[in-house]
Amino acid sequence: MKLPPIVLVTGTDTGVGKTVTTAALASALQADGRSVAVYKPCQSGAVTGDSDCAEITRLAGPLTAEAGVVLQEPLAPVPAAALDGVTLPQLAAYAARVRELAGTHDYVLVEGSGGLLVELDPTAARWRIWAAALPVTRLLWWLPAPRWEP
Ligand SMILES: Nc1ncnc2c1ncn2[C@@H]1O[C@H](COP(=O)(O)OP(=O)(O)OP(=O)(O)O)[C@@H](O)[C@H]1O
Ligand SMILES: [Mg+2]
Repeated sequence: MKLPPIVLVTGTDTGVGKTVTTAALASALQADGRSVAVYKPCQSGAVTGDSDCAEITRLAGPLTAEAGVVLQEPLAPVPAAALDGVTLPQLAAYAARVRELAGTHDYVLVEGSGGLLVELDPTAARWRIWAAALPVTRLLWWLPAPRWEP
């Protein structure tokens, strides 16, 4: 499988399959003998046991899996950080860590939080801006299937 060395896996909404997709990519790349790091810049929902890194490790086997910031409530980064009283990192800090991981692994798979328009810090920096700052990034992005609610 040929991919650029840094891939951002994102998708509009929560629970749409970003983690499962990231795990599948990691598994396929590792089966090809490639070293893979997974990076989750912002993990929300720790209070309910959410850990995408743990889930990817469970699905894909041992690999480098790291969260940038871990927030307690299962909310978007900005409100979750506000409830925790945490200052979110600058986008440049996330990007710097990804570059470091890219220096020591064949591939870095970055799992987003929600879709490309989710705000990542109080200055309204968004995934699409962050992705543009990493020229080798490829985006895997999709919309969830429409939900019918009676
Ligand atoms: N292709 C699929 N077919 C069936 N079920 C799936 C598929 N992809 C994901 N799921 C299921 O949907 C649920 C949510 O998937 P996943 O955790 O990958 O979503 P996510 O987008 O990473 O969510 P989050 O926003 O919390 O990070 C999980 O229970 C997973 O097993
Ligand atoms: Mg996930």
